[in-house]
Amino acid sequence: MLARAQALEANGREVIHLEIGQPDFETFDNIRLAGMRAIAEGQTRYTAPIGIQSLRQVIAEDAGQRRGVKFNPSQVVVSPGAKPNLFFPVLALIEPGDEVIYPNPGFPTYEAMIRVAGGKPVPVPLLEANNFSFDLDAFRHLINSRTRLVILNSPSNPTGGVMPLSDLEEIARAAQEFDFWVMSDEIYSRLVYDQINVPTIASLPDMADRTIIVDGFSKTYAMTGWRLGYGIMPESLAQVVQLLLTHSVGCTAQFVQIAGIEALSGPQEQVEGMLREYLQRRDVIVDGLNAIPGITCQRPQGAFYVFPNIKSFGLSSTEMAGLLLEKANVALLPGSDFGEYGEGYLRLTYSNSIANIHKAIHQIGEAVREL
Ligand SMILES: Cc1ncc(COP(=O)(O)O)c(C=O)c1O
Repeated sequence: MLARAQALEANGREVIHLEIGQPDFETFDNIRLAGMRAIAEGQTRYTAPIGIQSLRQVIAEDAGQRRGVKFNPSQVVVSPGAKPNLFFPVLALIEPGDEVIYPNPGFPTYEAMIRVAGGKPVPVPLLEANNFSFDLDAFRHLINSRTRLVILNSPSNPTGGVMPLSDLEEIARAAQEFDFWVMSDEIYSRLVYDQINVPTIASLPDMADRTIIVDGFSKTYAMTGWRLGYGIMPESLAQVVQLLLTHSVGCTAQFVQIAGIEALSGPQEQVEGMLREYLQRRDVIVDGLNAIPGITCQRPQGAFYVFPNIKSFGLSSTEMAGLLLEKANVALLPGSDFGEYGEGYLRLTYSNSIANIHKAIHQIGEAVREL
């Protein structure tokens, strides 16, 4: 979609970009300075593959305090971006034929990494009526003795939905009964609105031993290009993941890890400011979309995405996304890019200015009026 939008822009068209999943904020100054200072001081060498001890310590404290769980620094695995902490635990745990249940619509990396590991991807539909949490009836039918891992993502990309505690409790009970692991991708856990508390499955009884929490700096601190993330998991699994890091990426850049310490232990007001801005944008985009006849849009409680329902138009989500690029000059993604259960929806990112969001809504409204 980005390539198509850029081709239009090369011909002089002005396109509003609501397709890319990254913050439009700059990395905060204190973090940038910490990184620059670390380079100037020569902190540019290999580190332990699992990450430098002082960062692992700060992560364990910060992540534990926010979730009400006690983590040991030995459970923390630092990686270049969160993605290796999605991929390597899957590679470590999954044998050919093992089944992995993952959210659909969901982050496309989940299905890809399950396939690379030789596992069988088993999509569980997310239900719009349940704030885009799991369709629990479908989930109950999908679990069996071959289920080795269940992936959760709350708040979710692409829906912004937050899974309620009651759903996590049911999944936790199933994890004990069927003896599977849970990977909880919590990369959007700090981007949450309406003063709600996002529960984590790791805090439920007996779940810490079978849960991998994945989180990072990309979204919370607007650090997508720095590549810094982490996983928190039982120490025995952390040691295996460390081996995979050793023989692939080697380690995470030293000065980036130092900047990460500043991000977590420095002032947090800028995160709060960013959240206030996202909240305003969320309400503008949700209200704007709901005012367009034929479109209905939930008000998500997390991340920076909305996932409006466009089924009433009778077009596929790919056709609708193409039409809106051509006719409304708005780039967004078809819901089906996130799996078959995303059909009938679009994903819009509101990491853009309020003025541009207003303009995009107006142009979308004009374009669909003719349908
Ligand atoms: C749900 C989800 N998990 C993980 C990631 C990867 O994060 P990182 O850029 O830190 O590797 C993303 C990035 O878009 C995401 O949306």
